[in-house]
Amino acid sequence: MYPDAGRGSVAGTDEPGHPGWPARLGPVRTRAGVVALRPLWLRDGPAWRRIRLDDRDYLEQWEPSTPGSWKQRHTLTSWWAQWWSLRSLARRGQCLPFAITVDGAFGGQLTIGNVVRSALCSAWVGYWVASGHASGGVATAALGLAVDHAFASAGLHRLEATVRPENAASLRVLTKAGFRQEGLLLRYLHVAGAWRDHYCYAITTEDVGTGVVAGMVAAGLVERV
Ligand SMILES: CC(C)(COP(=O)(O)OP(=O)(O)OC[C@H]1O[C@@H](n2cnc3c(N)ncnc32)[C@H](O)[C@@H]1OP(=O)(O)O)[C@@H](O)C(=O)NCCC(=O)NCCS
Repeated sequence: MYPDAGRGSVAGTDEPGHPGWPARLGPVRTRAGVVALRPLWLRDGPAWRRIRLDDRDYLEQWEPSTPGSWKQRHTLTSWWAQWWSLRSLARRGQCLPFAITVDGAFGGQLTIGNVVRSALCSAWVGYWVASGHASGGVATAALGLAVDHAFASAGLHRLEATVRPENAASLRVLTKAGFRQEGLLLRYLHVAGAWRDHYCYAITTEDVGTGVVAGMVAAGLVERV
């Protein structure tokens, strides 16, 4: 199913290893609308800023602490710096920074980060979705598309996600996408004012059979468009 999985800068070869980027993934239909992934655009800034300022209470409790107030971290200047940094990492093959779109409009982000090749071929995945789409299946669909792409085209073998035990919505997303819980990381990440324990969830190519999205279609979670 995944002929490229585990390839890319394989130990002992000169293979360059930047496969799978840039990419457009989907679309698939969810309860909230038609979901697709595409590279982040600089012009996503105004929508990103508006949603994240409106959704502060919804997002901040789960996201890593960074310097500055929420407002200071959500200026168009800070968007530009983030976008530039993500684009540089993507060009170096270390990151796949996607916008999640719902019915064609910017509705969140999904990032595959810290891509390590060689004998590891692993990365982490993180995501957020605007509260206006909550529980509409958007994150689940986005994660399914991303996992299939990571394994089929980006040459990865394993994806990891860390999540606070209190984050019921994200735990449900990971479970629906086929991730398994592998352990508890004590005081792992500084979130909302304290060092918080996180579960480590993971999935490898061996877990996905004919593909995550195919499994979601069969389970009635998404429809192909
Ligand atoms: C986590 C998040 C991405 C989920 O996005 P979403 O598009 O609403 O996710 P989905 O609709 O695909 O799935 C959410 C599931 O959790 C369930 N859920 C939502 N809130 C819940 C709660 N408080 N308790 C239990 N289940 C909950 C939903 O019912 C849904 O399950 P279902 O499809 O079986 O009904 C979104 O809530 C978010 O952006 N949160 C803030 C940022 C964040 O937590 N990011 C992840 C960090 S690990």
